[in-house]
Amino acid sequence: YKLIPNNSLITDTPEQGRELAIKMARLVVKATQSDAKIREKLRPVYAEDPSMLLDVGKVVAIEFQTIAAANNYWNK
Ligand code: HEM
Repeated sequence: YKLIPNNSLITDTPEQGRELAIKMARLVVKATQSDAKIREKLRPVYAEDPSMLLDVGKVVAIEFQTIAAANNYWNK
């Protein structure tokens, strides 16, 4: 798999940029924990912990900042 789908940070819309941010945040988890069984075991841990869910939000926000900058904030 690729860590950056399509090898590009460029998206048509902010919504698609946000989707890419979530995808990239998930891919780095896959890269650091390559065992799918372990990821499945750990999923309910973060899914039911509000602090961890907020951490997820922060990681996605940082990815989105990068993507937004790369797209010149979608100001065409
Ligand atoms: C599911 C995002 C961290 C394991 C999901 C889903 C999202 C998501 C949006 C729901 C997918 C769906 O139902 O369609 C993220 C983000 C993360 C993160 C943005 C970090 C910034 C983690 C971590 C683990 C994990 C740390 C475990 C080590 C899983 C698993 C599923 C899942 C096993 C269910 C299978 C799947 O839908 O692919 N995650 N997650 N995730 N996540 Fe995470």
